[in-house]
Amino acid sequence: MSQPVIAPDHIPADLYDVIAALCTTSIEVAGIIAKGPLGQSLGSLVGENSDGDGQKALDVLCDEMFTASLTRESVRWYASEEQEVVNLLNEKGKYALAIDPLDGSSNIDVNVSIGTIFSIFEAKDDAEASFLRPASEQLCGGYVVYGPQTALVVTFGAGTQMYVLDPEAEKYVLTNEKMSIPATSKEFAINASNYRHWVKPVRDYVDNCLAGVTGPHGKDYNMRWVGSLVAETHRILSRGGIFLYPSDERKGYENGRLRMIYECAPIAFVIEQAGGRATDGETPILQRQATTLHGRIPLVFGSADKVTRVAEHHNMPAV
Ligand code: AHG
Ligand code: MN
Ligand code: MN
Repeated sequence: MSQPVIAPDHIPADLYDVIAALCTTSIEVAGIIAKGPLGQSLGSLVGENSDGDGQKALDVLCDEMFTASLTRESVRWYASEEQEVVNLLNEKGKYALAIDPLDGSSNIDVNVSIGTIFSIFEAKDDAEASFLRPASEQLCGGYVVYGPQTALVVTFGAGTQMYVLDPEAEKYVLTNEKMSIPATSKEFAINASNYRHWVKPVRDYVDNCLAGVTGPHGKDYNMRWVGSLVAETHRILSRGGIFLYPSDERKGYENGRLRMIYECAPIAFVIEQAGGRATDGETPILQRQATTLHGRIPLVFGSADKVTRVAEHHNMPAV
């Protein structure tokens, strides 16, 4: 018998078919992305999602591809960045799956890493209630990054595993069964063009990083901003650091930019299971609960000591 698309060893048996379907579809997506301009048009604007974000051809295509493959599996409810409401896929399904089918849309046409992010809960009878619950109730959180290599990073609550796609064999191969975020690092990631809009604790934290050896952190920093959450997550899981997408004063950014259910919650689960921390600046993301399907929440994650330091800034009295 041929090898399965992913070995079952670290995957709860009941979830295996869903994960295998995600893997199979992600391999097709990776193939489409790798062809870039030699294949179909990927980066053209084709519409808007319910929140007014532009939808590119690849956003919509990926959403359709994941919907089609998961319909055949035990996914009852499907919530997607690209769809206004929760979709019923399989009446008999046990699970509720939330997905950002294509993360990092602004990088589609420039040959920079993009990804897919997903989160799985046990399904309830009510569609929305299946997702509007504490992030700590996730059964699984993970992402696929389509970069120089395609990699799957996933947790089921017993550590974070990394698999790399072998493109010839069309299989994911386990490369790290227990990822661990380095505790020390000199890198931070934030979209610094928003500096003037940030709240004071965030400005203070970044000012201290920029002050380098002469500041309170006593070391020089390096800054990185890819613009794809999956790519930043993958870098930070590999070599430590901190990521911030805080709330800011621009209209529509009162709760930052990233969506709780299919971006922040699964990334937080993966990060915490690798020994890091993920908060909204103060409160752990896993203790938070979305109130709307597409609701946003500030996100700060990475090496534990760095995330703790940001929380300390938030706890300081305003002056
Ligand atoms: P998406 O492509 O799914 O809309 O997500 C884009 C997100 C995230 O990947 C990234 O961290 C952030 O948007 C970038 O935001 P800025 O353009 O404000 O830097
Ligand atoms: Mn996204
Ligand atoms: Mn997206």
